[in-house]
Amino acid sequence: MLVITTNTELNSFLGTIKKKLNLGLVPTMGALHSGHISLVKKAINENDYVVVSIFVNPTQFNNKEDLEKYPQNLDEDINLLYTVSDKIIIYAPPVSEVYQNKIAPKKFNFQGLDLVMEGEFRDDHFDGVGTIVEMLLNLIKPNNAYFGEKDFQQLQIIKKLTEIQNIPVNIIGCPIVREPHGLAMSSRNERLPSQIRKEASIIYNTLKAAKEKFGTKSAKVIKEWVIKTINDNPNFKVEYIEISDVQTLQPVIRKQKGKKYRAFIAAYTVDVRLIDNIALN
Ligand code: PAJ
Repeated sequence: MLVITTNTELNSFLGTIKKKLNLGLVPTMGALHSGHISLVKKAINENDYVVVSIFVNPTQFNNKEDLEKYPQNLDEDINLLYTVSDKIIIYAPPVSEVYQNKIAPKKFNFQGLDLVMEGEFRDDHFDGVGTIVEMLLNLIKPNNAYFGEKDFQQLQIIKKLTEIQNIPVNIIGCPIVREPHGLAMSSRNERLPSQIRKEASIIYNTLKAAKEKFGTKSAKVIKEWVIKTINDNPNFKVEYIEISDVQTLQPVIRKQKGKKYRAFIAAYTVDVRLIDNIALN
């Protein structure tokens, strides 16, 4: 397995393999867990080589403290990836290699996908994500790039990014991997005290119950019920709950036949922000 930190070195390696082989890309911010590894394994199965990028992207953090507290353990990540496959190339650049002189995001027009939910509560977040993902796709030129449905809004925005920027790549969505109690795996879960981590299953359990209700109850009634159920536990506070069309990500007003909907949630516990989502139909 190769660990590469500069664009020149990466380009020179990719030049030697790319002409006839399929290349996959799994972008990450490190602190790897089974959720990330599920993407890597799928990519390994579907490509000859897989680049796993590990880069904590400063331009997608609207909160300086969240960026500073973001867990980083490159050595552990490298050791974990060693156990997965020898077809992996790790690309772990320093900030200066990615943002030469100015640490600032590009501005994109994601046609409204970025104005709801995560976009509403995290200013410039998706411009930052778009900036790094566009840079990675243009640099690595993978055939396939893998993103988790854990960040479903991000997945839809990356698909839009490749459409508006004309980037030839297949964007492949991968299912959410959960902890035994149901909490969606996230690098931020490490910051939760163990009791809260168990109790955080309330988020997924409530989403599953919302799915049950979706056939008979209105979105408004379901959203109110979710807020009450979660906020009744003093350790959790809902930031938003939305029931939206999976393509436009706009909140459902009246359900329409043939359309697919998902429930999306963000909730705070201690000082950690958790997100999750579930397919409703
Ligand atoms: P990060 O949070 O490290 O996640 C990297 C990828 O792993 C994303 O596609 C994310 O959706 C996926 N992932 C995380 N937890 C998952 C889980 N429990 N189940 C399935 N997939 C999961 O998302 C980012 O980094 C960044 O925004 C990035 C795309 C790398 C751009 O900086």
